[in-house]
Amino acid sequence: MPSAPDDRIRLIDPDAVPAHIAVIMDGNGRWARQRNLPRIAGHQAGIQSVREILEASAELGVGALTLYAFSTENWKRPPSEVEALMELLREYLGREIDNLDRNDIRFGTLGDSSALSPVIQSELKHAVERTAANSGLRFNVALNYSGRDDLRRAVNTILSKAKDDPRLLEGISEEYISRHLYTADLADPDLLIRTSGEWRVSNFLLWQIAYSEIWVTDTLWPDFRRPHLYEAIIAYQKRERRYGGLTPALAR
Ligand code: IPE
Ligand code: IPE
Ligand code: MG
Repeated sequence: MPSAPDDRIRLIDPDAVPAHIAVIMDGNGRWARQRNLPRIAGHQAGIQSVREILEASAELGVGALTLYAFSTENWKRPPSEVEALMELLREYLGREIDNLDRNDIRFGTLGDSSALSPVIQSELKHAVERTAANSGLRFNVALNYSGRDDLRRAVNTILSKAKDDPRLLEGISEEYISRHLYTADLADPDLLIRTSGEWRVSNFLLWQIAYSEIWVTDTLWPDFRRPHLYEAIIAYQKRERRYGGLTPALAR
């Protein structure tokens, strides 16, 4: 069910909306458990949150939304849960791609999708190609992703380039590393949201969140809707981003 209209949107400064929001969508299993339902019912319910947060982000003018959907560690879960998650992803892509395209959303993935089933790989490829020319919100889904793996792959790519270009052995810049990550063409997240009250980053975007503002909420992902996103953005807009320096008030 979509959430009721929330007039807190009026408290958001439209000129200072985070350009890139990243979300660790957590708590689906606990949401289901609270209702005596199988874990997968929580993942299913979480899809409505994805729709709503995507729609709200597009309306607010957020430039990029990156959702952590499946980590390289999530393969440790029972095969039945992994299969059910993959099936949900396939259904989501099949059902939503027209809608994404209609709304000028550009879809992308982060992570090693070559480990996913051929059917999912072709759905993902189709979604990426179909929306490649869109210029609205960048919607990224992290699948078989981890921050350390992102860095490991970047290092390996750079090592193999160094075989043909030994100048790289003299040293590389931070910017060069950034350009070899899955997020090469994305700005770093301004705001990182984690639902379900867990205060950890679980191997998400380790390099890219160096100066992200972090918002942890006890709300479980299937309950995280428009008003919760507004709340996170309002809190973000009250923060002072200092990047290690001083703001004029502190420097006095
Ligand atoms: C997040 O919900 C979804 C994925 C990690 C795929 P969880 O499945 O981790 O839910 P909890 O943390 O067990 O409640
Ligand atoms: C993080 O959630 C991964 C995703 C949201 C995809 P987890 O539930 O897997 O993380 P931990 O195990 O609580 O750290
Ligand atoms: Mg979890």
